[in-house]
Amino acid sequence: MTERWTPRKILDWAVADFTKRGIESPRVDAECLIAEGLNKSRVELYLDLDRPLNEDERARIRALVERRRRHEPVAYILGHRDFYKARFKVGPGVLIPRPDTEIVVEEALRRLIVSPPEHRGEAERARLTEPAPSKEMELTFDSAPDAPLEPSSVGDIRILDLCAGSGAIGLSILLERPNARAVLTDLSAEALAIARENAEALGLMERVEFYQGDLFEPIPTGMDFDLIVSNPPYIPAGELAGLAPDIRDFEPRLALDGGDDGLDLHRRIAEEAARFLKPGGSLIVEGGAGQAAEIQALHRAHLEGAEPKILRDYGGIERVVSSTLPRHTA
Ligand SMILES: C[S@@+](CC[C@H](N)C(=O)[O-])C[C@H]1O[C@@H](n2cnc3c(N)ncnc32)[C@H](O)[C@@H]1O
Repeated sequence: MTERWTPRKILDWAVADFTKRGIESPRVDAECLIAEGLNKSRVELYLDLDRPLNEDERARIRALVERRRRHEPVAYILGHRDFYKARFKVGPGVLIPRPDTEIVVEEALRRLIVSPPEHRGEAERARLTEPAPSKEMELTFDSAPDAPLEPSSVGDIRILDLCAGSGAIGLSILLERPNARAVLTDLSAEALAIARENAEALGLMERVEFYQGDLFEPIPTGMDFDLIVSNPPYIPAGELAGLAPDIRDFEPRLALDGGDDGLDLHRRIAEEAARFLKPGGSLIVEGGAGQAAEIQALHRAHLEGAEPKILRDYGGIERVVSSTLPRHTA
Protein backbone atom coordinates (compact mmCIF):
# COMPACT_ATOMS: atom_id res chain seq x y z
CA MET A 1 0.00 0.00 0.00
CA THR A 2 1.40 3.47 -0.93
CA GLU A 3 1.71 5.72 2.13
CA ARG A 4 -0.19 9.00 1.92
CA TRP A 5 2.42 11.68 2.61
CA THR A 6 1.20 15.16 3.52
CA PRO A 7 3.27 18.21 4.54
CA ARG A 8 2.16 17.63 8.15
CA LYS A 9 3.35 14.05 8.13
CA ILE A 10 6.74 14.93 6.64
CA LEU A 11 7.08 17.84 9.06
CA ASP A 12 6.45 15.60 12.08
CA TRP A 13 8.86 13.02 10.75
CA ALA A 14 11.60 15.53 9.97
CA VAL A 15 11.29 17.35 13.33
CA ALA A 16 11.68 14.03 15.19
CA ASP A 17 14.61 12.99 13.00
CA PHE A 18 16.43 16.36 13.27
CA THR A 19 15.90 16.37 17.06
CA LYS A 20 17.44 12.91 17.32
CA ARG A 21 20.46 14.15 15.37
CA GLY A 22 21.03 17.07 17.75
CA ILE A 23 20.05 19.75 15.23
CA GLU A 24 19.48 22.96 17.17
CA SER A 25 16.26 24.32 15.67
CA PRO A 26 14.54 21.23 14.26
CA ARG A 27 11.07 22.67 13.66
CA VAL A 28 12.12 25.92 11.98
CA ASP A 29 14.63 24.06 9.82
CA ALA A 30 12.06 21.44 8.76
CA GLU A 31 9.48 24.13 8.00
CA CYS A 32 11.95 26.12 5.88
CA LEU A 33 13.02 23.09 3.87
CA ILE A 34 9.52 21.70 3.28
CA ALA A 35 8.25 25.15 2.32
CA GLU A 36 11.18 25.50 -0.10
CA GLY A 37 10.41 22.10 -1.65
CA LEU A 38 6.84 23.25 -2.25
CA ASN A 39 7.91 26.70 -3.42
CA LYS A 40 5.93 28.34 -0.64
CA SER A 41 6.60 30.59 2.33
CA ARG A 42 6.55 29.09 5.82
CA VAL A 43 3.18 30.76 6.46
CA GLU A 44 1.70 29.33 3.24
CA LEU A 45 2.92 25.89 4.27
CA TYR A 46 0.61 26.01 7.30
CA LEU A 47 -2.41 26.89 5.15
CA ASP A 48 -2.31 23.54 3.39
CA LEU A 49 -0.79 20.98 5.72
CA ASP A 50 -3.03 18.02 4.94
CA ARG A 51 -3.13 17.70 1.18
CA PRO A 52 -1.48 14.63 -0.33
CA LEU A 53 1.87 15.41 -1.99
CA ASN A 54 2.65 14.21 -5.49
CA GLU A 55 5.81 12.25 -6.33
CA ASP A 56 7.72 15.32 -7.62
CA GLU A 57 7.00 17.32 -4.48
CA ARG A 58 8.02 14.45 -2.26
CA ALA A 59 11.27 13.97 -4.17
CA ARG A 60 12.15 17.67 -3.90
CA ILE A 61 11.46 17.75 -0.15
CA ARG A 62 13.31 14.47 0.40
CA ALA A 63 16.45 15.84 -1.29
CA LEU A 64 16.41 19.00 0.86
CA VAL A 65 15.71 17.18 4.13
CA GLU A 66 18.40 14.62 3.36
CA ARG A 67 21.03 17.39 3.11
CA ARG A 68 20.04 18.78 6.51
CA ARG A 69 20.15 15.28 8.03
CA ARG A 70 23.87 15.32 7.10
CA HIS A 71 24.14 18.62 9.02
CA GLU A 72 24.47 20.93 6.03
CA PRO A 73 23.30 24.38 7.27
CA VAL A 74 19.86 25.47 6.04
CA ALA A 75 21.33 28.72 4.68
CA TYR A 76 23.61 26.76 2.30
CA ILE A 77 20.73 24.49 1.26
CA LEU A 78 18.49 27.47 0.50
CA GLY A 79 21.39 29.57 -0.82
CA HIS A 80 20.60 32.62 1.26
CA ARG A 81 20.34 34.07 4.78
CA ASP A 82 18.48 37.15 5.99
CA PHE A 83 20.72 39.57 7.88
CA TYR A 84 19.78 42.95 9.36
CA LYS A 85 17.24 44.19 6.79
CA ALA A 86 18.25 42.34 3.63
CA ARG A 87 18.67 38.91 2.12
CA PHE A 88 22.23 37.80 1.34
CA LYS A 89 23.29 35.08 -1.00
CA VAL A 90 25.58 32.55 0.71
CA GLY A 91 27.26 29.34 -0.34
CA PRO A 92 30.21 27.13 0.55
CA GLY A 93 33.23 29.42 0.61
CA VAL A 94 31.47 32.14 2.58
CA LEU A 95 30.50 32.37 6.25
CA ILE A 96 26.77 32.44 6.99
CA PRO A 97 26.13 35.86 8.58
CA ARG A 98 25.04 35.55 12.24
CA PRO A 99 22.41 37.68 14.01
CA ASP A 100 24.93 38.82 16.65
CA THR A 101 26.98 40.50 13.91
CA GLU A 102 24.08 42.93 13.51
CA ILE A 103 25.46 44.63 16.64
CA VAL A 104 28.41 45.78 14.49
CA VAL A 105 25.99 47.25 11.94
CA GLU A 106 23.94 49.00 14.62
CA GLU A 107 27.04 50.52 16.21
CA ALA A 108 28.28 51.66 12.80
CA LEU A 109 24.94 53.33 12.09
CA ARG A 110 25.08 55.13 15.43
CA ARG A 111 28.48 56.47 14.40
CA LEU A 112 27.14 57.62 11.07
CA ILE A 113 24.29 59.78 12.26
CA VAL A 114 23.42 62.40 9.72
CA SER A 115 21.75 65.25 11.47
CA PRO A 116 20.78 68.22 9.34
CA PRO A 117 20.37 71.43 11.42
CA GLU A 118 16.58 71.11 11.88
CA HIS A 119 17.08 67.74 13.53
CA ARG A 120 19.83 68.80 15.89
CA GLY A 121 19.47 69.94 19.48
CA GLU A 122 19.29 73.65 20.45
CA ALA A 123 22.96 73.92 21.41
CA GLU A 124 24.11 72.21 18.25
CA ARG A 125 21.77 74.37 16.13
CA ALA A 126 23.09 77.55 17.74
CA ARG A 127 26.64 76.45 17.08
CA LEU A 128 25.84 75.83 13.46
CA THR A 129 24.07 79.08 12.71
CA GLU A 130 27.26 80.98 13.43
CA PRO A 131 28.83 80.77 10.86
CA ALA A 132 26.39 79.42 8.25
CA PRO A 133 25.20 75.81 8.73
CA SER A 134 27.50 73.27 7.25
CA LYS A 135 26.19 71.28 4.33
CA GLU A 136 28.78 68.63 5.06
CA MET A 137 27.67 65.41 6.63
CA GLU A 138 28.20 65.43 10.39
CA LEU A 139 29.61 62.26 11.81
CA THR A 140 28.59 62.16 15.43
CA PHE A 141 30.18 59.79 17.84
CA ASP A 142 27.70 59.22 20.55
CA SER A 143 24.62 57.07 20.80
CA ALA A 144 22.09 59.86 20.43
CA PRO A 145 18.89 58.80 18.68
CA ASP A 146 19.24 58.65 14.94
CA ALA A 147 17.92 61.51 12.86
CA PRO A 148 16.38 61.36 9.39
CA LEU A 149 18.85 61.43 6.58
CA GLU A 150 18.70 64.38 4.23
CA PRO A 151 20.40 63.61 0.94
CA SER A 152 21.31 67.27 0.33
CA SER A 153 23.31 67.37 3.55
CA VAL A 154 25.47 64.42 2.77
CA GLY A 155 29.18 64.31 2.25
CA ASP A 156 31.58 61.62 1.27
CA ILE A 157 31.69 58.95 3.94
CA ARG A 158 33.95 55.99 3.31
CA ILE A 159 33.70 52.65 5.08
CA LEU A 160 36.06 49.69 5.01
CA ASP A 161 34.64 46.21 5.65
CA LEU A 162 37.70 44.04 6.28
CA CYS A 163 37.15 40.26 6.00
CA ALA A 164 33.84 41.05 4.30
CA GLY A 165 32.69 37.51 3.44
CA SER A 166 29.18 37.81 1.97
CA GLY A 167 29.41 41.59 2.47
CA ALA A 168 26.67 41.43 5.11
CA ILE A 169 28.12 44.16 7.37
CA GLY A 170 29.33 46.70 4.81
CA LEU A 171 26.38 46.34 2.45
CA SER A 172 23.85 46.59 5.31
CA ILE A 173 25.45 49.89 6.33
CA LEU A 174 25.28 51.18 2.74
CA LEU A 175 21.59 50.30 2.54
CA GLU A 176 20.95 52.55 5.55
CA ARG A 177 23.31 55.37 4.63
CA PRO A 178 22.78 56.39 0.99
CA ASN A 179 25.67 58.86 1.10
CA ALA A 180 28.27 56.31 2.18
CA ARG A 181 30.68 54.38 -0.03
CA ALA A 182 32.37 51.14 0.96
CA VAL A 183 35.48 49.13 0.25
CA LEU A 184 35.06 45.39 0.82
CA THR A 185 38.12 43.20 1.18
CA ASP A 186 38.64 39.48 1.74
CA LEU A 187 41.45 37.00 1.26
CA SER A 188 39.03 34.58 -0.38
CA ALA A 189 38.21 35.18 -4.05
CA GLU A 190 35.17 32.95 -3.63
CA ALA A 191 33.82 35.06 -0.77
CA LEU A 192 34.46 38.28 -2.65
CA ALA A 193 32.59 36.93 -5.72
CA ILE A 194 29.55 36.31 -3.52
CA ALA A 195 29.88 39.77 -1.93
CA ARG A 196 29.85 41.22 -5.45
CA GLU A 197 26.69 39.28 -6.32
CA ASN A 198 25.06 40.60 -3.15
CA ALA A 199 26.05 44.18 -3.96
CA GLU A 200 24.56 43.75 -7.45
CA ALA A 201 21.33 42.21 -6.13
CA LEU A 202 20.96 45.04 -3.61
CA GLY A 203 21.63 47.75 -6.22
CA LEU A 204 24.79 48.98 -4.47
CA MET A 205 27.46 48.43 -7.12
CA GLU A 206 28.00 52.14 -7.76
CA ARG A 207 29.05 52.65 -4.15
CA VAL A 208 31.27 49.60 -3.56
CA GLU A 209 34.81 48.63 -4.48
CA PHE A 210 36.19 45.13 -3.93
CA TYR A 211 39.79 44.18 -3.21
CA GLN A 212 41.13 40.70 -2.69
CA GLY A 213 44.07 40.22 -0.34
CA ASP A 214 45.44 39.95 3.17
CA LEU A 215 43.75 42.45 5.50
CA PHE A 216 44.88 46.02 4.61
CA GLU A 217 47.43 44.92 2.01
CA PRO A 218 45.19 45.44 -1.08
CA ILE A 219 43.94 48.91 -0.04
CA PRO A 220 45.10 51.52 -2.58
CA THR A 221 47.78 53.87 -1.26
CA GLY A 222 46.39 57.01 0.32
CA MET A 223 42.86 55.70 0.84
CA ASP A 224 41.52 56.36 4.33
CA PHE A 225 38.21 55.73 6.06
CA ASP A 226 35.66 57.21 8.43
CA LEU A 227 34.81 53.76 9.67
CA ILE A 228 36.48 50.37 9.63
CA VAL A 229 34.23 47.42 10.46
CA SER A 230 35.35 43.83 10.72
CA ASN A 231 34.23 40.40 11.81
CA PRO A 232 37.50 38.52 11.26
CA PRO A 233 38.06 34.81 11.98
CA TYR A 234 38.46 34.48 15.75
CA ILE A 235 38.06 30.84 16.80
CA PRO A 236 41.21 29.52 18.53
CA ALA A 237 42.69 26.87 16.19
CA GLY A 238 42.55 24.21 18.91
CA GLU A 239 38.78 24.63 19.25
CA LEU A 240 37.92 24.09 15.59
CA ALA A 241 37.66 20.30 15.87
CA GLY A 242 35.12 20.63 18.71
CA LEU A 243 32.73 22.90 16.81
CA ALA A 244 29.23 21.68 15.86
CA PRO A 245 29.37 19.64 12.64
CA ASP A 246 27.16 22.21 10.87
CA ILE A 247 29.99 24.72 11.26
CA ARG A 248 33.09 22.50 11.33
CA ASP A 249 32.24 20.41 8.28
CA PHE A 250 30.61 23.07 6.10
CA GLU A 251 31.77 26.63 6.79
CA PRO A 252 35.17 27.65 5.41
CA ARG A 253 38.07 27.16 7.80
CA LEU A 254 39.54 30.42 6.51
CA ALA A 255 36.49 32.21 7.93
CA LEU A 256 36.87 30.61 11.37
CA ASP A 257 40.52 30.03 12.26
CA GLY A 258 41.93 32.89 14.31
CA GLY A 259 45.25 31.20 15.16
CA ASP A 260 46.45 29.88 18.54
CA ASP A 261 44.44 32.16 20.81
CA GLY A 262 41.92 33.27 18.18
CA LEU A 263 43.29 36.82 18.16
CA ASP A 264 45.83 36.73 15.31
CA LEU A 265 43.68 38.82 12.99
CA HIS A 266 42.43 41.12 15.75
CA ARG A 267 46.03 41.84 16.73
CA ARG A 268 46.97 42.82 13.19
CA ILE A 269 43.81 44.87 12.67
CA ALA A 270 44.42 46.82 15.91
CA GLU A 271 48.07 47.43 14.96
CA GLU A 272 47.34 48.70 11.46
CA ALA A 273 43.89 50.37 11.65
CA ALA A 274 45.05 53.84 12.78
CA ARG A 275 47.02 54.29 9.53
CA PHE A 276 43.79 53.88 7.56
CA LEU A 277 41.41 55.89 9.76
CA LYS A 278 40.65 59.58 9.34
CA PRO A 279 40.86 61.73 12.50
CA GLY A 280 37.67 61.03 14.48
CA GLY A 281 37.19 57.74 12.62
CA SER A 282 36.06 54.52 14.29
CA LEU A 283 37.11 50.89 14.33
CA ILE A 284 34.29 48.47 15.18
CA VAL A 285 35.10 44.77 15.42
CA GLU A 286 33.42 41.56 16.50
CA GLY A 287 35.17 38.95 18.63
CA GLY A 288 34.36 35.66 20.33
CA ALA A 289 32.97 35.04 23.80
CA GLY A 290 35.63 35.93 26.37
CA GLN A 291 37.81 37.90 23.92
CA ALA A 292 36.36 41.42 24.32
CA ALA A 293 38.67 42.59 27.13
CA GLU A 294 41.79 41.49 25.22
CA ILE A 295 40.58 43.16 22.02
CA GLN A 296 39.82 46.29 24.01
CA ALA A 297 43.39 46.24 25.37
CA LEU A 298 44.75 45.85 21.82
CA HIS A 299 42.74 48.87 20.67
CA ARG A 300 43.87 50.88 23.67
CA ALA A 301 47.49 50.06 22.91
CA HIS A 302 47.39 50.89 19.21
CA LEU A 303 44.66 53.50 18.65
CA GLU A 304 46.06 56.52 20.43
CA GLY A 305 43.52 58.58 22.35
CA ALA A 306 40.66 56.14 21.72
CA GLU A 307 38.58 54.91 24.65
CA PRO A 308 37.38 51.53 23.36
CA LYS A 309 33.95 50.45 24.53
CA ILE A 310 32.53 46.96 24.66
CA LEU A 311 29.02 46.12 23.41
CA ARG A 312 27.05 43.00 24.26
CA ASP A 313 25.24 40.77 21.76
CA TYR A 314 21.58 39.67 21.92
CA GLY A 315 22.57 36.88 24.31
CA GLY A 316 24.30 39.32 26.72
CA ILE A 317 27.81 38.20 25.69
CA GLU A 318 30.48 40.90 25.30
CA ARG A 319 30.86 40.73 21.54
CA VAL A 320 31.86 43.98 19.86
CA VAL A 321 34.62 46.48 20.56
CA SER A 322 34.16 50.00 19.25
CA SER A 323 36.98 52.56 19.30
CA THR A 324 36.98 56.11 18.03
CA LEU A 325 40.07 58.19 17.38
CA PRO A 326 40.14 61.79 18.62
CA ARG A 327 39.07 64.28 15.95
CA HIS A 328 42.15 66.38 16.40
CA THR A 329 45.59 65.36 17.50
CA ALA A 330 47.17 67.68 20.07
C1 LIG B 1 34.13 35.36 10.21
S1 LIG B 1 34.11 35.59 8.45
C2 LIG B 1 33.14 37.07 8.39
C3 LIG B 1 32.36 37.29 7.13
C4 LIG B 1 31.39 38.48 7.19
N1 LIG B 1 32.09 39.71 7.50
C5 LIG B 1 30.31 38.22 8.22
O1 LIG B 1 30.36 38.85 9.29
O2 LIG B 1 29.41 37.42 7.96
C6 LIG B 1 35.78 36.08 8.18
C7 LIG B 1 36.17 36.38 6.74
O3 LIG B 1 37.56 36.75 6.78
C8 LIG B 1 38.21 36.27 5.63
N2 LIG B 1 39.65 36.23 5.93
C9 LIG B 1 40.34 35.30 6.63
N3 LIG B 1 41.64 35.64 6.73
C10 LIG B 1 41.78 36.83 6.08
C11 LIG B 1 42.87 37.69 5.84
N4 LIG B 1 44.11 37.42 6.30
N5 LIG B 1 42.66 38.82 5.13
C12 LIG B 1 41.43 39.12 4.67
N6 LIG B 1 40.34 38.34 4.85
C13 LIG B 1 40.51 37.20 5.56
C14 LIG B 1 37.54 34.94 5.38
O4 LIG B 1 37.69 34.55 4.03
C15 LIG B 1 36.08 35.23 5.77
O5 LIG B 1 35.33 35.64 4.65
